[in-house]
Amino acid sequence: MSERTLVLVKPDGVARALVGEVISRIERKGLTLAALELRTVSEETAKAHYAEHVERPFFPSLIEFITSGPVVAMVVEGERAIPAFRQLAGGTDPVEKATPGTIRGDFGLETQLNLVHGSDSPESAEREIGLWFPGL
Ligand code: RTP
Ligand code: MG
Repeated sequence: MSERTLVLVKPDGVARALVGEVISRIERKGLTLAALELRTVSEETAKAHYAEHVERPFFPSLIEFITSGPVVAMVVEGERAIPAFRQLAGGTDPVEKATPGTIRGDFGLETQLNLVHGSDSPESAEREIGLWFPGL
C-alpha cells in the first residue's frame, strides 16, 4: 500500500554535501518526493519532533545537534515507504547496527551523527508530516 514518510537529512548530512546522495538512493529505490525543503530547525520543532526521547540522557545533545545547522526535510511516498526508507537508512548506530550498502553504514561513524531520519511507524509518520509540513 502506498504510504508517506518524513525523511530528514540531518545537519551532518547537509554539511557533508550528502543531500544528493540521499535523494538519489530514495529515487533509485522507486520512492518519490512529495515535498522537500531546506530548513533551519527551531528548538521548539526539534523538541516536538523528538518528544518520544525527552527522558533519555542524550536528549539535550540531540536537540543541540539537530538545531546546529540546516536540515533537508522531505515527504517521501511509495509502496511501504516507511520501512523502505528505514531499510535504506540502516540501523541507528552506523557501525554496530547499520550494514554496508545503507546510508548510515556507508557514510557514518557515530550514533548521533547518523545523517538521516526516517519515521518509524504510520503513527509517527502522520505526526511528523503534520509537524514539518502542516496541511500536506
Ligand atoms: P531517527 O529517529 O533520527 O530516525 O533515528 P532512529 O529511529 O534510528 O533512532 P532513535 O532511537 O529514534 O534515536 C533518535 C536519534 O537520537 C540519536 N541517538 N543518540 N547517544 C545515543 O545513544 C543516541 N541514541 C540515539 C541519534 O541521532 C538517533 O538517530
Ligand atoms: Mg527514531
